[in-house]
Amino acid sequence: MTSKIIEEIERLKEEKDAVILAHYYVTDWVQEIADYVGDSYYLAKVAAGLDKKTIVFAGVSFMGESAKILNPDKTVLMPDMQADCPMAHMADVERIKQVRKKYDDVAVVCYINSVAELKVHSDVCVTSSNAMKIVKSLPNKNIFFIPDENLGRYIASKLPEKNFIFNDGFCHVHKGITAENLKAAKEEHPDAEVLAHPECTAAALEYADYIGSTAGIIDYATKSDSKEFIVATELGVLYELELNNPGKKFYSAGSTQTCPNMKKVTLEKVRDCLRDNTGVVEVSDDTRAAALKPLSRMLELAK
Ligand code: 13P
Ligand code: SF4
Repeated sequence: MTSKIIEEIERLKEEKDAVILAHYYVTDWVQEIADYVGDSYYLAKVAAGLDKKTIVFAGVSFMGESAKILNPDKTVLMPDMQADCPMAHMADVERIKQVRKKYDDVAVVCYINSVAELKVHSDVCVTSSNAMKIVKSLPNKNIFFIPDENLGRYIASKLPEKNFIFNDGFCHVHKGITAENLKAAKEEHPDAEVLAHPECTAAALEYADYIGSTAGIIDYATKSDSKEFIVATELGVLYELELNNPGKKFYSAGSTQTCPNMKKVTLEKVRDCLRDNTGVVEVSDDTRAAALKPLSRMLELAK
């Protein structure tokens, strides 16, 4: 059954001149058939330079939306339109306006995990892999970081020269990986290195040997001499971690590390959207033009 669906996807890709981009958190099968698999930054970069007519984005809404903003003339398809990152909605335009009024030199720094409407009101976008570099390079002292408080606080802890204003957004998956979980996992596997995503809380990050994006985590574990690792992020990364590191062991941190939205993307839905032309991402011209600015600035500053 699965091989039949894969054959159909391959045929449809040719027919529709399509390419499949997938995030490390989607199911193994989808990662396996994708043309490009990566973290949010890599996928945004790839999306900006493709020559195919159709992009299938196996990920959550903000990823497909960003791909459309970067490629207005291409068709961007989402296998499941309901796959949405809750954190992408956890900031509001009114608060941005208030902060801009209070601090005249403020830069509104918008994590790419955000809806287009928030990007429209921001100065620059960042992902977990380039946030440090980009914020450091900004001339502004005051930084309003939206929507994720944990990533904002992590970056702030490394850049004491900046004055951060935080927003109370969070990722429920990473917030669920507690310091207690990591303490217990460390007790069970004392030789294991802890690999953590910066969306985890500051208390959890205290246990981390490495903190970085999904791509950063995979790269670190692949280069490390350690043989065991505790993974403090969504467990979709295990597919690539285990593929690259057959001799190494990877343990969960002991909480439910599954993003229910990323897991909505199945092989069947990838086939269906290509076959039926469903899940077409639409962004109005005005929103697109305004949201393109912070996204393009990210791609420029992250180089
Ligand atoms: P990355 O930028 O590391 O891919 O993370 C995206 C994400 O959604 C983390 O929860
Ligand atoms: Fe959003 Fe968290 Fe899922 Fe990432 S893991 S897409 S931040 S809910």
